Amino acid sequence: MKTVLITGGNTGIGLATAEAIAAQGHRVALACRDMGKAQQAKQKILAQTPAADVRLYALDLASFDSIKSFSATFLNDFPSFDVLITNAGVVPRTQQFTKEGFELQFGVNYLGHYLLTHLLLPGMANVQGARIVHLSSIMHHFGKIDFGTFKGEKKYSEIGAYGQSKLANLMFSNELAKRLPSNISSNAVHPGGVDSDIYRELPKLLHQFLRLFLISTARAGKYVANMAVGSDWAGRTGEFKSAHGPLPIAKRSNDQQISEKLYNTSAQLCGVEPLVLSARV
Ligand SMILES: NC(=O)c1ccc[n+]([C@@H]2O[C@H](COP(=O)([O-])OP(=O)(O)OC[C@H]3O[C@@H](n4cnc5c(N)ncnc54)[C@H](OP(=O)(O)O)[C@@H]3O)[C@@H](O)[C@H]2O)c1
Repeated sequence: MKTVLITGGNTGIGLATAEAIAAQGHRVALACRDMGKAQQAKQKILAQTPAADVRLYALDLASFDSIKSFSATFLNDFPSFDVLITNAGVVPRTQQFTKEGFELQFGVNYLGHYLLTHLLLPGMANVQGARIVHLSSIMHHFGKIDFGTFKGEKKYSEIGAYGQSKLANLMFSNELAKRLPSNISSNAVHPGGVDSDIYRELPKLLHQFLRLFLISTARAGKYVANMAVGSDWAGRTGEFKSAHGPLPIAKRSNDQQISEKLYNTSAQLCGVEPLVLSARV
């Protein structure tokens, strides 16, 4: 039995991923902002898999204090665990900020996960075949890493900020694949255009139209679950795959200079020690 931690696992793709993983007999830990929804998610998983081992934790990725306190609690419960899925995400229409003053999409979708991942790495240090799966998106094409926007210094664009956060997720995944010891893999996924709550703030008509082209959360969750625990993903690292259709990858995601600068800047912003490039053995 593997222990799989999923951020934002109380709904959408995260919940569908948890359902698929629990159905295979693995323990799932859901790290959620809304504990009421987390309880409902647990009941949903248990209704499908009555013997499932489901653990619930409070985590707000928009707060470094919450990330630190969650990480300490989780590592106390599970000094060793197998898989981290950085799934939680937001797409606010108007500009919002984290507790530390970061633009919310950069702060939650990317930087909060950056801090969380580094704090949790000791729990994977001695686990053979440990895996990290990052939820990126084909929307990384709309993003550009602009070091002058992390605290919302420039005019806000919902799509631009989302694209930047998803490009950052992808670059982070690739940097980790170069830097982590060989027992831990790091891969990114575009789950597809998925019929989840993420589009809840869209105008109703546009939402209804868009839904015609979306795949189910179950289909996306099954794909992500396979990346997390499937035997065909054993030993694979540094990949970016799509659960739905072809995935053209933006050339700028391979810009080593920007990628390394983002990695090192993020370490400073989070106050963590960056992994050195030679760490992979
Ligand atoms: N849906 C798509 O078409 C699509 C396409 C490409 C990539 N993705 C990516 O897939 C991932 C999952 O998205 P989804 O479609 O399943 O969206 P969703 O249904 O809106 O779920 C997002 C999850 O993130 C959680 N979350 C938001 N802010 C948080 C915070 N500050 N701290 C902790 N958790 C927080 C939400 O919790 P609450 O319930 O408390 O809000 C929710 O559980 C995201 O990273 C998204 O960018 C989705």
